[in-house]
Amino acid sequence: MKILVINGPNINMLGIREPGIYGKNTFADLLQLLQDTAKALNIEVEQYQSNHEGDIVDKIQWAYGKVDGIVINPAAYTHTSVAILDALKSVSIPAVEVHISDVDSREAFRQISYAGLACCKTIKGHGLDGYREAIVYLDQLLNHKI
Ligand code: DQA
Repeated sequence: MKILVINGPNINMLGIREPGIYGKNTFADLLQLLQDTAKALNIEVEQYQSNHEGDIVDKIQWAYGKVDGIVINPAAYTHTSVAILDALKSVSIPAVEVHISDVDSREAFRQISYAGLACCKTIKGHGLDGYREAIVYLDQLLNHKI
């Protein structure tokens, strides 16, 4: 089983950007968490981060026929990108949306999620652990355990 984890703009700045909101753990810590989760579940996890909307669309299209599930934190593009929503709908790969912060308790413009409309589950406000939860959820879903 192969899961693709996609992170959008500024997620590579974890540990530096707004630690009061996103925590002190770094992007390198997140990559380690993904690898640890993959090992624990005995699955393959590939990670991709980009600050560019079209590159994220390209990566989602690339995933067609190659991965079993997608975990996506589109970051700021969550609230603006119909293109990422359409890409997720195009490939029909089971996808889980993750947000490190609790977007519901933040600014009004963060309450809208386009990408979330194409996702079977959303995890928000659980910090970096949300990624582990999302991978575990997809593993169970794809193994018909839920
Ligand atoms: C975020 C929330 C978004 O509103 C924000 O633009 C981000 C990160 C999160 O993980 O909490 O960049 O997706």
